[in-house]
Amino acid sequence: MTQQTRPNGTLRHLLTLEGMSKQQLEALLSRAQKFVKVPGEPPTHKRSLTGVTVANMFTEPSTRTRVSFELAAKRLGADVVNLEMQLSSRVKGESMLDTIYTLEACHVDVFVVRDAEAGVPGMVASNVQPHVCVLSAGEAHVAHPTQGLLDSLTILQAKKKFDGLVVAIVGDVKHSRVARSAWHALATLGAAEIRIVSPRGLAPEASEFAGCERHTSIDTGIAGADVIMMLRIQKERMATAAIPDADRYFAKFGLSSERLAKAKPDAIVMHPQPMNRGIEIASDVADGPQSVIRNQVSNGVAVRMAVLEAVIEGRQS
Ligand code: CP
Repeated sequence: MTQQTRPNGTLRHLLTLEGMSKQQLEALLSRAQKFVKVPGEPPTHKRSLTGVTVANMFTEPSTRTRVSFELAAKRLGADVVNLEMQLSSRVKGESMLDTIYTLEACHVDVFVVRDAEAGVPGMVASNVQPHVCVLSAGEAHVAHPTQGLLDSLTILQAKKKFDGLVVAIVGDVKHSRVARSAWHALATLGAAEIRIVSPRGLAPEASEFAGCERHTSIDTGIAGADVIMMLRIQKERMATAAIPDADRYFAKFGLSSERLAKAKPDAIVMHPQPMNRGIEIASDVADGPQSVIRNQVSNGVAVRMAVLEAVIEGRQS
């Protein structure tokens, strides 16, 4: 596994939240909180990344992660290049590493990598020059570390603490990098109970999510929960025959307002998006008073500013 930290203890890469200490996670959340703005307030603009070049390299589609990494880098004064992978020389057969070496020769300092294949962000991190940093923007079903951080920040803002919280992670956990990164973060930050709530066919292996409660009914899974984290059905990671029927899925596992009433009255509803409205979640819940889904998006920019600043600051110390 690629080392994420430098010998001086500073963060160099961010590939996974697994194994990060509570102190490291809290430091990133605290740094991110400083970048959070209320709606209507102008965003922070700083020059802490002046002279730094960030390359966004996404081989899977993205709206939130790609845009927020770009905005985060620009708001800190970095130069940003968004490589359109389908228009790049990758389609002529150039390897990922030759693409990386080419961009390194153009003085790219930070690679933001999303890839459908497990291991790609780590492979890139193992092959870049010592001053270069790699940030995972989503690795197969394995990890989405900045999503785990923004989810944690959103929970902290709403609940003011992690201790004692009951968190239900609901839906297609099997294929979800969001669920894995949320679990790694929330277990370390002190959530009391993390429930994995999924239909049998979409449940992760028994060897995964150690210490979590398992539920195959959403009704028992969200009962008394403080936080309900709904997940998208990851059709792109399933054989066509395995994709659940939309109506049947909503009837059995969709979060409706009737079901939401089983959670604590002040429970918050999360979803990493993109959402399949009417399949995983009813629109009146997604847009309702308990939803913090748009806060998650706003926090995504703040978290990515924090991570970019941390890895570049650490390079200078
Ligand atoms: N939550 C998330 O990763 O969204 P995107 O796929 O749009 O980046």
